[in-house]
Amino acid sequence: MIQRTLFQKGLLLILALGLLTSGSIASAESPEGTSRFFSPPPEDSIPSGPFGDLVRKGERIFTQTRKYAHPYVGNDLTCESCHLNRGRKAYSAPLWGAYVLYPRYRKKNHRVNTLEDRIRGCFRFSMNGMPPPSDSETIKALVAYSFWMSRGAPVGEKLTGRGMINLESPKRTPDPFSGKKVYAARCALCHGLHGQGRKSHGETAFPPVWGARSFNQGAGLFKVSKLAGFIKMNMPLSKGDSLTDQEAWDVAAYIDSQPRPKKP
Ligand code: HEC
Ligand code: HEC
Repeated sequence: MIQRTLFQKGLLLILALGLLTSGSIASAESPEGTSRFFSPPPEDSIPSGPFGDLVRKGERIFTQTRKYAHPYVGNDLTCESCHLNRGRKAYSAPLWGAYVLYPRYRKKNHRVNTLEDRIRGCFRFSMNGMPPPSDSETIKALVAYSFWMSRGAPVGEKLTGRGMINLESPKRTPDPFSGKKVYAARCALCHGLHGQGRKSHGETAFPPVWGARSFNQGAGLFKVSKLAGFIKMNMPLSKGDSLTDQEAWDVAAYIDSQPRPKKP
């Protein structure tokens, strides 16, 4: 089943990338394999037995969140929509960079947060849903998956590629009108002119970037600076770091000026 979904998504991606560029599929490979970043353990090293089962369950929830954690999801996104390559890609808040830094203090809620708290926050705001209870199987599985992904990483260290980047302040105020042009030229093919995304066989192939089925106004990406940093390093998909900083700021201002669910 995972196989089939990935296959369908792959096909759509190949189509879209083919239209966008004349480049080869190889360019769709993730750049985090290079030695600059921590290498998480390969997929096929997840052990058999109860621990491995929990890790695999976490991965399924991460990539097919609606299907495997549906009571807690209120939109068409998955965890992977923002934490790319199943939570592995540098600068899209990879799980290997996150696990080793928790518990940690967050200004957002002025207290020390466990990883469980942090994940529940993403359910509430980024997934516009109901956070699963901290002791639920859903949270246990996601924590196990994060733990496994950070195997071998130094605890307590801010690894290169963790989190998302903070772009320098823009030269001119981010402008949604310029951003709309960037969006039409570089993003709409996959995310739709109206930000609605694209589905294939009832499953999200390209996630909505605004509107009722996207993240809500409490989400990290609702901050223009956070969104600009995400876009700069990760979008257009597989072409990270191809927009200028100003283009990233402008298109972020455009996307965040569009309607989306209120902060709960
Ligand atoms: C709409 C985008 C989006 C979605 C969907 C999303 N997240 Fe996040 N997540 C973020 C952002 C933005 C951050 C903050 C990253 C930063 O500030 O460096 C974050 C942070 C995190 C962190 C902490 C990372 C760190 O380095 O401190 C974890 C763990 C996490 N998310 C897990 C999840 C899980 C699990 C799901 C699915 C249930 C999910 N996220 C869904 C955007 C998203
Ligand atoms: C080739 C197709 C493609 C293009 C072009 C593209 N994206 Fe994406 N984008 C994706 C996919 C696919 C994901 C989710 C990643 C996943 O599920 O693996 C995504 C995720 C996102 C997200 C986080 C999830 C959400 O729905 O909010 C944002 C924001 C985003 N893209 C913005 C942009 C912007 C801005 C551009 C143009 C500069 C762009 N994208 C261009 C395919 C694309």
